[in-house]
Amino acid sequence: MAVVLTTARAFATCDAAKKVLKDAGHEIRIVTPDKPLKSEELIPLVKDIDALIAGLDFITPQVINAAQNLKIIARNGVGYDRVDLMTAKKNNIEVTITPGTNSLSVCELAFSFITGLARKIHVMDTSVCSGSWKRENGVELNGKTIAIFGTGSIGKNLAIRCVAFGMKVIAYDLYPNVELQEKYGVTYYDSMAPLFELADFISLHLPATEQTREMINKESINKMKKGVYIINTARGDLINNDDLYEALVSGYVGGVGLDTFTEEPFTDSRFFNHKNVILTPHTGAFTQDAIVKTLVMAAEDVVRVLDGNKPLHSVSQ
Ligand SMILES: NC(=O)c1ccc[n+]([C@@H]2O[C@H](COP(=O)([O-])OP(=O)(O)OC[C@H]3O[C@@H](n4cnc5c(N)ncnc54)[C@H](O)[C@@H]3O)[C@@H](O)[C@H]2O)c1
Repeated sequence: MAVVLTTARAFATCDAAKKVLKDAGHEIRIVTPDKPLKSEELIPLVKDIDALIAGLDFITPQVINAAQNLKIIARNGVGYDRVDLMTAKKNNIEVTITPGTNSLSVCELAFSFITGLARKIHVMDTSVCSGSWKRENGVELNGKTIAIFGTGSIGKNLAIRCVAFGMKVIAYDLYPNVELQEKYGVTYYDSMAPLFELADFISLHLPATEQTREMINKESINKMKKGVYIINTARGDLINNDDLYEALVSGYVGGVGLDTFTEEPFTDSRFFNHKNVILTPHTGAFTQDAIVKTLVMAAEDVVRVLDGNKPLHSVSQ
């Protein structure tokens, strides 16, 4: 029997994922932190574990080196920028992700931000609840241009939905998707600049890397159309918050929808209760449907590795 620790919050109520581990005869230890665990919080928990199903915790070299029996870190999601891949490799620990399982949920949240900002739903909700009957002027999506940065699992599905709403979709990705181009009329550009210039809406679906970090900054905002809406359900590090805030206050940026932040929970109160801002607590993947698909996939790779087999969704190679 191996010991599997899970810090993924939803695990506690996911019977399907528990069944995968129990049927394989493993002991499950469930921790349900209300925010991602820091290195010093994780270290005492990992000393004797064989596998970790991880939320958005900070899995530093110190954490990995403290886990002498660890064989697999299964990220409950697709982002693995908080896992120190180098140290995991050095210690022969597999790192896996759960591709595709929450893409539709994140895509639908991004789409909710688009429609929510366009019609100022959050503003009118507050208004009606406070006894007022003030109508806000919105904009139609039909005929507007959306720039989608990153057309992987999430961005691709968003593009298809935006096309269905009559939007013109332009995109940037290292690997343009032929189906999006040929079947849905999506136009790719080989640099970011034209997207900044042409877009009425911008939606970010890239990982945070050296090339993409703070891609939304003073310089890129200056290239954008006045009144542009910016949606980020990818990673907080893609945006320079000071530059974004300045552009919001000046009215140059018309609205923002943010689900992901550099520091979580997000405490930058300048953005709170701002009329043109919608904030959610990194909740893109939080639908009942996605939670089950994701945890089951992570648990299945854990069982594979503990059985001595290769995982199906490794990022360690
Ligand atoms: N809000 C949430 O809860 C939530 C949930 C899941 C994923 N995410 C985040 O959403 C983002 C997208 O996830 P996904 O599942 O679509 O990932 P994906 O890997 O399927 O797609 C990412 C795309 O970005 C492209 N890309 C990577 N680096 C690039 C670069 N420098 N320039 C141009 N293109 C580049 C890749 O070619 C790929 O097509 C990630 O940042 C992920 O961490 C957020």
